[in-house]
Formats: sequence, structure tokens, C-alpha cells
Amino acid sequence: MLITLEGIDGSGKSSLHEALSELLADLDPVFTREPGATWVGDQVRRAIKEQIDPVTEATLFVADHAAHLAKVVRPALAEGRLVISDRYSDSRYAYQSVTLQGIVPDPEGWMRAMHNGWTIVPDKTFLCVLPVDEALTRLKPDSEREHFEKHETLVKVQDNYLSYAKAEPARFVIVDAMLPQDTVAKFVADAIRVELGAGMKKRKGRRV
Ligand code: TYD
Repeated sequence: MLITLEGIDGSGKSSLHEALSELLADLDPVFTREPGATWVGDQVRRAIKEQIDPVTEATLFVADHAAHLAKVVRPALAEGRLVISDRYSDSRYAYQSVTLQGIVPDPEGWMRAMHNGWTIVPDKTFLCVLPVDEALTRLKPDSEREHFEKHETLVKVQDNYLSYAKAEPARFVIVDAMLPQDTVAKFVADAIRVELGAGMKKRKGRRV
């Protein structure tokens, strides 16, 4: 089963990822992330830091996803493992729709076309949502911010995420990131256990 955690910068999804590693330790999940699960991710980080052009950056994010799928996600799922990824394809749809605006004709369509029919769609996606102003206060001081971490960018990115959640209500679970971290982590851990239980019932049903 593939679970993904999404949300704008400062939404607390990385702390959530960490908390889940304790709360779900008995299930021995594979914890992974985008960008960065393979060496391609190092190149993505370099591209972000050097503010290379948006098309290079976008295609590097896709390259990172390809390597992540090949090296981590597919092998783990083939072994029947639970995979939990901090960011995944929805980050590309939500962020690159903004960074590629005015550069390619249909940024989201282009990004989706690069994934469709080849990527693995997550079974469940937990979307951490909070006011952008609050997210910004949780980030580093201005000078150290990545170029994505601007108010107007994050507002658009979060709107994109929310529109995807509306379009795919069976996959997305909206998480109130203003709640205390422990509450959020427990809610998500419980929901993952329910999802795993449901997945097992479905598989058993198929065999009968
Ligand atoms: P991430 O490593 O999650 O951020 P952090 O520095 O908080 O650990 O991601 C780095 C940035 O890359 C983040 O601002 C979101 C952005 N991003 C995209 O624009 N597209 C993508 O496909 C992904 C995975 C991340």
C-alpha cells in the first residue's frame, strides 16, 4: 500500500512523517521522500538552491520521481510493504503548476501527462492544510527560504492541492495542520491502520 503526505512548506508534514515512524513501527513501513530518495534528489536540491530555470527544475523533479519509483517504491510494494512518502506526484502538480505558469502552455496538464499511465497513484494521500501565514511563521527566516516559500506561491499551491482533494475525495484526506502535532499524528496513524485493514479485506474478498 502506498500512502503519501502532502502540503505546503511549513504544514508540518515532515514532522508527521517522523511521528508516524514511531506510531507505526510495528508495521515496519518503508519511509521515503521526494525529492531525495536517490542521488537524483541531490541534483534536484542543487537546482532548487541555484534557482535554475523552472523547466529544468520541473523535469529534474520528474527524474527524481522516476528513480524513486524504480529504486524504492516499486520494489517495496512488490514485497507487500507499506510505503509512506513525504511528498510525491501531487507536489509536482501543485507546485509546478505555479512555477511553470507563463512558461509552458498548460503546466498542470504537462506535468500530469508526464506521469499518467506510468506512475503509481497513491492509495491514500493525507493533505496537511493550514493558513499560509501560519505556515510561513513555521519556516526559516526570509534569507534562508527556498524560492517556493513565498506567500503568493504557497497560496496558489495550497489552492491547487485543495482542488485535487475535491476532485478525488476517495483518495485525499484533509488534515487540519493547526491541531497539536500529536493529535494529527495519531489521527493519520489510525487512518492508515483502517486503510490497511480495508485493503486486506478487499484482497481476501477477491480470493474467495
Ligand atoms: P521538501 O524537501 O519537502 O522541503 P523541505 O525543504 O521543507 O524539506 O521539498 C523541497 C521543495 O521542493 C518544497 O518547497 C516543495 C518543492 N517541490 C516541488 O516544487 N515539486 C515537487 O515535485 C516536489 C517533490 C517538491
